[in-house]
Amino acid sequence: MARARQKQSARASAARIIAEVLQKHHSLNGVLANTLERLPENERSLCQQLCYGVIRWQPQLQAIASQLIKKPLKNKDGDIAALLLCGLYQLRSMRIPEHAALSETVNACKTLGKPWATGLLNASLRNYQRDKTSFDTIALQQESAKYAHPDWLIAQIKHDWPDNWQAILKANNQQPPMMLRVNQQQHSRAEYMLQLQQANIVAEELTQTPEGILLESPCDVYQLPGFRNGDVSVQDGAAQLVASLLDIQADQRILDTCAAPGGKTCHILETQPDNEVVALDVDPARLQLIEQNTQRLKLNAKLIAADASDITSWWDGQKFDRILIDAPCSGTGVIRRHPDIKVLRRPEDITSLAETQQQLLENLWPLLNTGGLLVYTTCSALKRENEQQIMDFLNRHPEAQEHTPIKPPASRRQAGYQRLPGDDLLDGFYYACLRHH
Ligand SMILES: C[S@@+](CC[C@H](N)C(=O)[O-])C[C@H]1O[C@@H](n2cnc3c(N)ncnc32)[C@H](O)[C@@H]1O
Repeated sequence: MARARQKQSARASAARIIAEVLQKHHSLNGVLANTLERLPENERSLCQQLCYGVIRWQPQLQAIASQLIKKPLKNKDGDIAALLLCGLYQLRSMRIPEHAALSETVNACKTLGKPWATGLLNASLRNYQRDKTSFDTIALQQESAKYAHPDWLIAQIKHDWPDNWQAILKANNQQPPMMLRVNQQQHSRAEYMLQLQQANIVAEELTQTPEGILLESPCDVYQLPGFRNGDVSVQDGAAQLVASLLDIQADQRILDTCAAPGGKTCHILETQPDNEVVALDVDPARLQLIEQNTQRLKLNAKLIAADASDITSWWDGQKFDRILIDAPCSGTGVIRRHPDIKVLRRPEDITSLAETQQQLLENLWPLLNTGGLLVYTTCSALKRENEQQIMDFLNRHPEAQEHTPIKPPASRRQAGYQRLPGDDLLDGFYYACLRHH
């Protein structure tokens, strides 16, 4: 058994994970979480870096790999194809001595039970090493390789943002910073900054949000002072802006409709812990994550597993003062955090997501009290899911009016506010605040 464990090297595991994402379209986070806990601790960081790096740069790495291996490998050898991408990524982007990167990657063929591939990988990687510039130049002639995005998504972003599409694509390929939200029920931000300093964690206050902190470099959450005790949560500043836009006051009844894993539910409750907050998610497994988060942060929400659009299945007939629809979306504003979005999303998804978003808006709007506020948000950079969606809604509903309690650090659009990837350090996000009058 011990020997079998040793066979789980970082590179072999990364190759298996990447093949699963590329071939079976499983989510990177999901597959990675299952594998990492079975890997020896000293292999985990490398495995994670390889998975994220290769998935982030896959179109570019693949354009090089296709020059090195003219006859594509069989489907069942997707792990070897992925291992070649891991080798190229190490040679191009990691600070590992080239000889070690090469020999360890070639050795991983044996760990994968495919010793026949050692010659092929060795020859391919050495071939690349000898003439990197020529292989790179040919690869980068393809736009999808140059920007490391699928063609359809490049076309869509170009169409929506003709003036800054390149900046968006470039920002999507950056490694994301780690940001925190201080639980204002436990500490002020200034107090928590001191605790970080005492723990030798370098950080600065986020200028865009009242409770946000930016870490100089990412760390394990359990290294954060008081994490277990609910002093702090991990959340990008763009998501933190949502609570302020909801303009939460005491004694309000609040509905959070697409709530898991509960980042915004918890923030809403940290603002006014005595408010009644109903948090819904269609996915019962993800609903448990809200339970874990509220417990850790010592907060209380009423959790319901239901399709929010199907109001007859869950609504008790009492209206709400605030409704948050943090809608399921393409995730095109947070590609830097979830690079597998580039692999998993298909162009037709945008149409079906837009339909789901419209249905959520239509079915939940009648649940808002007169004078109440509905906040619609997405982490998308596409107009169809954002300003177009809200323009259409406003056209259908004369009783709805835009009313934004604070001006968010985002660009004003025809309807709502848009942050694009690369605008500053925060994620891409869209916000629209609609008042029922
Ligand atoms: C963007 S995520 C929400 C993130 C969450 N608001 C937070 O801040 O942590 C979207 C969520 O919507 C859920 N969802 C998708 N369609 C839904 C529906 N019809 N009703 C309720 N939840 C839905 C998904 O399961 C997913 O958890």
